[in-house]
Amino acid sequence: MPARLHSPTPRNLRRLASALQRGELVAIPTETVYGLAAHALDARACRAIFRAKGRPTNDPLIVHVLDLAHAEELAEFNDAARRVARHFWPGPLTLVLPKKACVPDIVTSGGDTVALRSPAHPLARRLLELAGVPLAAPSANPFSYISPTSAAHVQQGLGRRIKHILDGGESTVGVESTVLDLTNPAKPVILRPGAIDEKALGCILRRKVRVRTGRKAKGRLKAPGLLERHYSPRTALQLMRRRVTPDAKRAVILLRKPAGKVAPHTFWLSARGALAEIAHNLYRVLREADAAGYREILIEPVPPAAGGLAAAINDRIRRAAA
Ligand code: TXA
Ligand code: MG
Repeated sequence: MPARLHSPTPRNLRRLASALQRGELVAIPTETVYGLAAHALDARACRAIFRAKGRPTNDPLIVHVLDLAHAEELAEFNDAARRVARHFWPGPLTLVLPKKACVPDIVTSGGDTVALRSPAHPLARRLLELAGVPLAAPSANPFSYISPTSAAHVQQGLGRRIKHILDGGESTVGVESTVLDLTNPAKPVILRPGAIDEKALGCILRRKVRVRTGRKAKGRLKAPGLLERHYSPRTALQLMRRRVTPDAKRAVILLRKPAGKVAPHTFWLSARGALAEIAHNLYRVLREADAAGYREILIEPVPPAAGGLAAAINDRIRRAAA
């Protein structure tokens, strides 16, 4: 049985909110990617997230909240964290902070910090309001596959393992949130690049923000979104270092639509090369190329000097190709 796709009517939203309160799983749209949500203070419900995704329990979850006041019930905030939250929330920024006792161990993989985000998507916000509880939600894909940016993507990956999907159309941003570790406010560190880059964060924090693509801390993964292989298609994926001619066995994914007649087996991520459009389309196009049965896919990386979303896009492309 596939999952039920719910359109966002007021009645469906009320029903899904009560399902969440009862400890059921619901896949929900957010502005970054779709999340697989559960009542964050219900350890049993959160355990079901790991089972549905096939995700190892040493990979902690992000907890979604309506606003800063709700976030402060779950974590010890410092002034730096309050400042960035006031500036960037709701939005694609996740803050890692010391957790409070009410957060179950399963959410944080037994660690003493919790990751928090206030999503901007109106339907995610409506569900948070109606359910009245924080929602733990990793991306709604089987572990290590490409994240979903539409309800159809969730259905393809997890449809047989979950009951409910709320259909909110396509995620606008298209890549996961920036994860910023502020446990030590004197040393802010980005653990996963996203739409909000180190420059934007540094401006608000008035200090340098480091970007770390680090590995493990105490057996627990510091940010498994940073696992070398992640966000991966099944087809072998390679970075495109120079122009190649695609054929029936080898597709290419370009950053922008080529001018003139387009060779067959060519995919593209944008009309004119705008980073926001590339990020928005990245996972959908990767999935389409993956489903077409090629032996190999070559993908063009973004020029790193582009700033903003460039680091996040290249990070996901590099990990998908690892
Ligand atoms: O945009 C997003 O962040 C999406 C939407 C659904 O909100 N969620 C998402 O969740 O990407 P997930 O589970 O796929 O990625 C969460 C990332 C992982 O890399 C995880 O390791 C990291 O956040 N994380 C969670 N809790 C952490 C903690 N306490 N310390 C360090 N990293 C943490
Ligand atoms: Mg994920």
